[in-house]
Amino acid sequence: MTKTTAAITAVHGYVPDRVLSNQDLEKMVDTNDEWITTRTGIKERRIAEKGQALSDFGVEICKGILKKRGITPEDIDMVIVGSITGDYRFPSTANVITDKMGMTNAWGFDLSAACSGFLYALDIGKNYIENGTHKKIIVIGADVMSSIINYKDRATCIIFGDGGGGVLLEPSEDGLGIQDSIMRSDGAGREFLLQQIGGSLEPITKENAESDGQYVYQEGKTVFKHAVKNMAQVAVDIMDRNNLTADDIAWLAPHQANLRIIDATANRMGLDHSKIMINIEKFGNTTAGTIPLLLWEWEDKLKKGDNIILAAFGGGFTWGSVYLKWAY
Ligand code: UT7
Repeated sequence: MTKTTAAITAVHGYVPDRVLSNQDLEKMVDTNDEWITTRTGIKERRIAEKGQALSDFGVEICKGILKKRGITPEDIDMVIVGSITGDYRFPSTANVITDKMGMTNAWGFDLSAACSGFLYALDIGKNYIENGTHKKIIVIGADVMSSIINYKDRATCIIFGDGGGGVLLEPSEDGLGIQDSIMRSDGAGREFLLQQIGGSLEPITKENAESDGQYVYQEGKTVFKHAVKNMAQVAVDIMDRNNLTADDIAWLAPHQANLRIIDATANRMGLDHSKIMINIEKFGNTTAGTIPLLLWEWEDKLKKGDNIILAAFGGGFTWGSVYLKWAY
């Protein structure tokens, strides 16, 4: 009996129109285009309009997926949203999206894994397809980082942007789609990249409401060290486990946090740099949004059967890698 695999059968992305360039940031904090470009590779990022929430991104993403696949909202069984910037603390943005889209047969939930959110969500969606209980799952990775960034903190505001994407997962009997995945986490890393205030540990009060703890804090150097080591390692691990050489791999879709981390990962994999998907210069770090945004942008270049490695590292710490065969 052939094993049912979970294949990506459509992809769509969304970024807001508003551009925040390095030159714009030069007027806001003590930084410059040269520093940002050489340290990160970022030239500009997109920023949501006031009132534009994660579910608004999600609706655009879902509409694009349904249109491409020629299916209706009622066809969707499940929506999983990897994000740390939901419309509310609760209910989940998956609930909001399914309501706004009229996905009356779908259930869903949000998943918090920072920059690894899309990969974690993809791994969960994969299992629901493989076990045969669900036929059409939309997996979204997206973030409205501008809602939790301090635009007076040059250590973080230069890095992050808003946007995301999603994929449709469906069963494949041809052996295409997700072949393997490795997910990791280490909560000891939480102090180096977090939003301190607003959870049950430190709820927002009158006293702390104005403090910087409500924004993203990152100790960049420490996160960088862990990211370089772990993202590269997990990508190499998934290659080894599947007997893949660099020649077997058509594309690497790496989390877009820093061009130097991406280069280090590709070097460890022995991968020619022409095989790396990179759009960090345009969108910055969209947290859970980076990998589906890459797949969306590269969709036209991908061929059926292409071996693709996805790899991410982010707050938590969380990290992981997925090996898939492109299905269309
Ligand atoms: O996606 C989730 C995971 N996140 C990541 O993977 C991000 C990992 N970290 C990074 O990408 C890098 O650490 C950063 C891009 C955030 C920072 O780059 P860095 O090379 O680690 O810089 P640094 O923080 O060590 O700062 C170096 C210098 C410092 O000045 P001194 O002490 O050498 O005089 C900073 O104060 O650069 C200064 N600096 C800046 N200068 C101009 C820090 N931020 C800026 C800035 N503009 N925006």
